[in-house]
Amino acid sequence: MKTHTIAILEGDGIGPEIMREALKVLDVIEARSGVRFERRVAPFGGRAYFETGAAFPEETKAVCDAADAILKGPIGLSLEESRKIPVEEQPERGALLPLRQRYHTFANFRPVYLPPELVRFSPLRPERIEGGIDIVMIRELVGGLYFGEKTTGTTATGERFVKETLEYEESEIRNILVVAFEEARKRKRLLHSVHKSNVLLSSVLWNDILDEVAVDYPDVEHRHVIVDAAATALVLNPRQFDVMVMENMFGDILSDLGGGLVGSLGLMPSACIGAKKAYYEPSHGSAPDIAGKGIANPYSMIGSLALMLEKSFGMNAEADRIRAAMCAVFARGYTTADLRDPAGKLEPVSTAVFGDKVVEALRA
Ligand code: IPM
Ligand code: MN
Repeated sequence: MKTHTIAILEGDGIGPEIMREALKVLDVIEARSGVRFERRVAPFGGRAYFETGAAFPEETKAVCDAADAILKGPIGLSLEESRKIPVEEQPERGALLPLRQRYHTFANFRPVYLPPELVRFSPLRPERIEGGIDIVMIRELVGGLYFGEKTTGTTATGERFVKETLEYEESEIRNILVVAFEEARKRKRLLHSVHKSNVLLSSVLWNDILDEVAVDYPDVEHRHVIVDAAATALVLNPRQFDVMVMENMFGDILSDLGGGLVGSLGLMPSACIGAKKAYYEPSHGSAPDIAGKGIANPYSMIGSLALMLEKSFGMNAEADRIRAAMCAVFARGYTTADLRDPAGKLEPVSTAVFGDKVVEALRA
């Protein structure tokens, strides 16, 4: 029997409760496909810090090193809880960024996917999103401002200052552009490259490399869009986009805008892919304010599981079935309390009941 080992990092806040639902779905996939997924649960994030003294403990690194893929819940604490932890051990800086760096997961896929069954959640007027939205935002995830050199200090006149640098080497730009062109080739053969070359030199280099990479993809049309204009265009006419590619910080911001387009970050799964290892996580945070209440929607966690099946294990049909099952649950009239239907037509059920309904739809 084929066996894959996966690391399960439940994370903080709503992490454990939405992970539980994703693992129920994985049980069904296992039973049906005959592929076994050996699960190794390991501490990660704020809770891990309080329990073990490290946000990304050595034990967890070993589990992740040995795994074929990593399924990760959201991490993060309330501001108050965060302040009890030294800045460098706070879960974002102490766990998440080191995870990205350790496995060099440079290619972050963030689908902004709004099929007809979900259109009700979008705040956009129906005529702007007729037929739904289907965009893949591809974000460079291990470079740029996030990982550039940082200095803080005091100037000669006694003012505190900070300096953060935006660095890219050409291979880093080339690698993410190749991923984007490949993705575009599998879809509508249209790629929007997002940049700010009217101001940033990093974008000038980005565009030079884009021209070089594009030579290998004569079948893919590429278009330029300046990042600020991209934000406007995404809201006014999201359907003009198919695949979009951008550097780290732009991708952080525009992918949250994507969450706004579909109505919630709770509808935003993601995949973070490196050359040798990939991990999968919801694009949203740990929502400490609703943790433990059983009202968080597991869509983005289950969707991240689907991405794992597809991108790490080539189980595309299973991934499609999972997405269809989740859509079916909404179509049958259910949601969770954190993902309100603006028209009030859907019945809110608990996180666990929503998960059960996904399982039921998947089994049918
Ligand atoms: C994301 C998150 C992270 C980021 C935070 C939690 C460090 O917002 O995955 O988009 O900024 O990359
Ligand atoms: Mn973000």
